[in-house]
Amino acid sequence: MELSEASSCTRCALSATRTQVVIGTGSLSARLIVVGEAPGRHEDEGGQPFIGRSGQLLFSLIAEELQLSREECYVTNVVKCRPPDNRTPRAPEILACSPWLDLQKASWHQSVVLALGLTAARVMVGAKGTMKDLHGVPVRREGLTVVSTYHPAAALRQGPSVIAVMRSDLAVVRGLLS
Ligand code: URA
Repeated sequence: MELSEASSCTRCALSATRTQVVIGTGSLSARLIVVGEAPGRHEDEGGQPFIGRSGQLLFSLIAEELQLSREECYVTNVVKCRPPDNRTPRAPEILACSPWLDLQKASWHQSVVLALGLTAARVMVGAKGTMKDLHGVPVRREGLTVVSTYHPAAALRQGPSVIAVMRSDLAVVRGLLS
């Protein structure tokens, strides 16, 4: 199975409602891997992850805290097709999509993974728990170091207090990358 084959995937019902599969952008061997939940409307139309308002906020924080551009990161989502109305992906959809994430993971060596939001955090850390418990705590798993933080959409909704936590979680990432 090749990652490029994901573009014609019909492993779950999201294939019926998507415009296109959003696989990921950047180099698979980037030192920082950014993993979100699932594409939204802009991403579904544009074919790239995090190109809407969440992405703008995210990459301005990453530029300020880590001095990294979007192009220097590999950016993807747990689920590669947009769920209708941007609902949270369901467990069977996450499972159906997991072979693509596994293929991506196989080329992430010694990388730091930034998991955004509870769906990505739980999948990447392999644990349940709330974002309060999980954020900012590096977890070593399958040769990767995963740091979870709030989803930038939560920061857009809730404002400066969430942004401040995201900045302190990114400072943890900065320490791991240095
Ligand atoms: N939210 C996500 O989780 N991923 C995207 O690509 C866009 C918005």
